[in-house]
Amino acid sequence: MKGVLLAGGTGSRLYPLTRITNKHLLPIYDRPMISYAVEALVKAGITEMMVVTGGTHAGEFLRLLSNGEGHGVDRLCYAYQDRPGGIAEALGLAERFVGDDPVLVMLADNVFGRTIRPTVEAFEQQRTGARIVLAPVEEPEHLRHLGVPELAGDGRVARIVEKPDDPPSSYCVTGVYCYDPTVFSVIATLEPSGRGELEITDVNNHFVEAGAISYDVLDGFWGDAGESIDAYYAVNDHVRRSGANRG
Ligand code: G1P
Repeated sequence: MKGVLLAGGTGSRLYPLTRITNKHLLPIYDRPMISYAVEALVKAGITEMMVVTGGTHAGEFLRLLSNGEGHGVDRLCYAYQDRPGGIAEALGLAERFVGDDPVLVMLADNVFGRTIRPTVEAFEQQRTGARIVLAPVEEPEHLRHLGVPELAGDGRVARIVEKPDDPPSSYCVTGVYCYDPTVFSVIATLEPSGRGELEITDVNNHFVEAGAISYDVLDGFWGDAGESIDAYYAVNDHVRRSGANRG
């Protein structure tokens, strides 16, 4: 299984910090944010990965991660996104790198308290379609800033709503997604959303409609450090206290 780490975007929710650097280079406790995502993949057994980034600080990722050896990566590739066109567009840049393999995609501002290895192992068994990771979120105001699944009576995902006014469940879709290689033909059919981006939620809803999506419910901490300055500090506090990607 290959890994794709998405580390582009403007990071506007963390302005002015992100006017002078890429969000994924900001510190989380004692390391730049992207390091935790690389570590999450390596600890899950994925050692071939591509970092997709853009903007004016792309070179810093090479300085930090180099060829990956220091982080336990066997093969580290990079892609450059010319303009922020959304998560799904960024993933599209990894098509040739992924080839015919299954892929785990991770938004590099997501930090997990525990290893995501169980999801990787489950998708290695599943092999086709998609697999997502849900996290319980209690506050409706928080859910309004995330992707939220509606769950059918039998527990299956009925649809995913991006940033819903009226959240249909008390789970969010975290930024870890497993796909079979048909994901790239799905991306090719997408239209930009209201915010002008190709949305990962539209990709996931394609797999929902095909009856080909499954999910894991997270146990342990999850945070999107790019969601707001408060979320950024909540992630910092957690990592400083308890670490990340623990076995
Ligand atoms: C993205 C996804 C959203 C998901 C979130 C997790 O949101 O679109 O569905 O819940 O990541 O971090 P964004 O950070 O682009 O607002």
